[in-house]
Amino acid sequence: MNYLDALENTSDQLFEYIRVPPARDVPGLEEDARRGLLSQPRSLPPKYFYDDCGTELFEKICKTSEYYPTRTEDFLLKRHAKDIIETAKPTNIFELGSGSSTKTQRLLDACSEIAHFPSYTAFDISERALMFGGIELSKRYDWLQISLLLGDYEAGFMNVPRENGSRLVLFLGSTIGNFEQKHAIQFMKDLRHNMSQTDRLLVGFDRVKDRHILDAAYNDSQGITAAFNLNVLNVLNSELGANFEPKNFSHLAQYDADKAQIEMHLVSSCAQRVMLNNLREFIDMDAGERIQTEISRKFTDQSLTRLLSDSGFVVKKDFVSPDEYFSLVLAKPI
Ligand code: SAH
Ligand code: AVI
Repeated sequence: MNYLDALENTSDQLFEYIRVPPARDVPGLEEDARRGLLSQPRSLPPKYFYDDCGTELFEKICKTSEYYPTRTEDFLLKRHAKDIIETAKPTNIFELGSGSSTKTQRLLDACSEIAHFPSYTAFDISERALMFGGIELSKRYDWLQISLLLGDYEAGFMNVPRENGSRLVLFLGSTIGNFEQKHAIQFMKDLRHNMSQTDRLLVGFDRVKDRHILDAAYNDSQGITAAFNLNVLNVLNSELGANFEPKNFSHLAQYDADKAQIEMHLVSSCAQRVMLNNLREFIDMDAGERIQTEISRKFTDQSLTRLLSDSGFVVKKDFVSPDEYFSLVLAKPI
């Protein structure tokens, strides 16, 4: 069942749904493609992964045995949810890049348990993820007031509606690792400027670990991560009038230990010309030539503390999983 059918099967107003206008200009796909594809080394920002199909593939990645971040962060949330809610006492839980909000249920369960009833706001670029998440949460928590915000969080937070009271801002999944360091600090500073002194931030950080575990997580045996990566070519075909042939590309994800990051690429398997019709441009790619589609940085206690302090936050609690694969950090504005 798709989310529109699911919505039609419900009679009540389940949630508020708002398109957030950008607070400042951010490049759209045409500009990003012009910048990233027409020059060397070729690259694209990862936000274009998340069309309906990419969103569905991401959900499947989270369920593979190799992709440990989701289940590890879920374990940490389950274990520490009560402590987090009791410490932050939020009147609103505000989640960035919420996806399907599945792990958020751990926090909402804790809210039910201690009879503390905040509202919930999800902010994501994927309508599909927002809708599925919103429908599921409304079924599970009859007390929950839900707002779904569709938009690009890189375009700022000034147009995000805000109620009085304290917010607990969630940025889970180690999505912060998909930003370069400078970009991450700029983003977190922007977030900080839109938070008050009593607000709290809960961020998931994937930690540096044995490269074999990392390589496996981004090269799952069912090929779902490969399909997720290749799907961005379908996005370029439909949104940019391009004519990429996904079968002429292969998925490559490898760990660079010096940079402490997974680097994900699409590799051209032959010499080929690709038209980018909406840009009135084409690119000639050699066999073996790459397009970088994502970095996924991995953190140490030192690097995550540094990132937070450089952005105006101080770590209050660092919940580390027993296998030391993942950190869930509760921080407050300095
Ligand atoms: N928090 C979830 C989902 C992580 S996947 C989890 O931990 O499982 C990253 C999410 O961020 C996706 O749902 C994607 O749609 C969203 N996203 C990526 N770039 C975004 C942007 N620029 N603005 C808003 N949402 C974005
Ligand atoms: C959303 N983000 C944190 C994921 C990651 O692990 O960097 C996206 C992803 N890419 C490949 N697999 C999952």
